Amino acid sequence: MTSDFQSWAKDRQTKIENYLESRLPALNFVPERLHNAIRYSVLGGGKRVRPLLAFAAGELVGADSERVTVVAAAVELIHAYSLVHDDLPCMDNDVLRRGKPTCHIEFDEATALLTGDSLQTLAFELLAEKRLADSPETQLSMIAQLARASGSRGMAGGQAFDLDSVGKTLTLPELEFMHIHKTGALIRAAVMLGANCASHLNQDQLDQLDHFAKCVGLAFQVVDDLLDAEATTDTLGKTAGKDADNNKPTYVSILGINQARELAERLQHDADQVLDSFGASAVRLRQVTDFIVKREF
Ligand code: IPE
Ligand code: IPE
Ligand code: MG
Ligand code: MG
Ligand code: MG
Repeated sequence: MTSDFQSWAKDRQTKIENYLESRLPALNFVPERLHNAIRYSVLGGGKRVRPLLAFAAGELVGADSERVTVVAAAVELIHAYSLVHDDLPCMDNDVLRRGKPTCHIEFDEATALLTGDSLQTLAFELLAEKRLADSPETQLSMIAQLARASGSRGMAGGQAFDLDSVGKTLTLPELEFMHIHKTGALIRAAVMLGANCASHLNQDQLDQLDHFAKCVGLAFQVVDDLLDAEATTDTLGKTAGKDADNNKPTYVSILGINQARELAERLQHDADQVLDSFGASAVRLRQVTDFIVKREF
């Protein structure tokens, strides 16, 4: 990771953190317990990878960074909600997230459920509040895009498939289907929403960018599977080895460590190739992809 990329990423992470901070209800707003849990689950942790992708896509098209900040925050809120629900006892039953007790452990299950509900609707509130695209039609399509990516044909559907797969051996196409939905859909939305903040790309270019995002979304979850098997609880900030414990089919359980690592690298290569047609303006997208594949947590 170059120091130039590090400072670029740090700058955007601070920007998103501050914006989220300013948009979440204050701790002393009633109901206080819920607002406490909401702030606990969103602020002060996480790599903010989806916002980084939105910013990188926004910079590719020369979009206004205030617009991109809002769409990046919306995607991050959906992501934060998905983590709170993913950790519940009825799903992965995890006690540690971002180095802290999970939301339902720190608060309680009902509060965790409501935290997820509230974060999800806040995401759409942000997207609908003010102008974020050059035309109202594009903005409407962005709202629909995030809704589709989050719902039963996207993230939530992928999560359902994940739960249904416990104890099963999936074929590679089935595993790919699961990962593309549970994780890939939101990553795709992050890239496309960032790019839609300006009307700079034609449909063909938008399709290319979407293809890039699909490769990155899958690579992201392949690496998540690898880290679950290889990294420590301390570095991850979440319990390592949980996939094997929960009997989840993953790229590691099906391909083994080495082939899963090769797949992540191949997907990075494919993603990079798609970006060739965009030239130098795609540098940040390449760097975020590199970070996603080489990260250690
Ligand atoms: C973890 O996502 C959950 C998956 C979709 C695999 P991240 O690794 O982006 O989690 P944070 O936001 O950095 O904590
Ligand atoms: C979670 O996948 C995907 C979503 C939250 C949508 P995982 O269950 O593998 O994520 P971690 O490993 O708990 O972060
Ligand atoms: Mg899960
Ligand atoms: Mg999980
Ligand atoms: Mg995981």
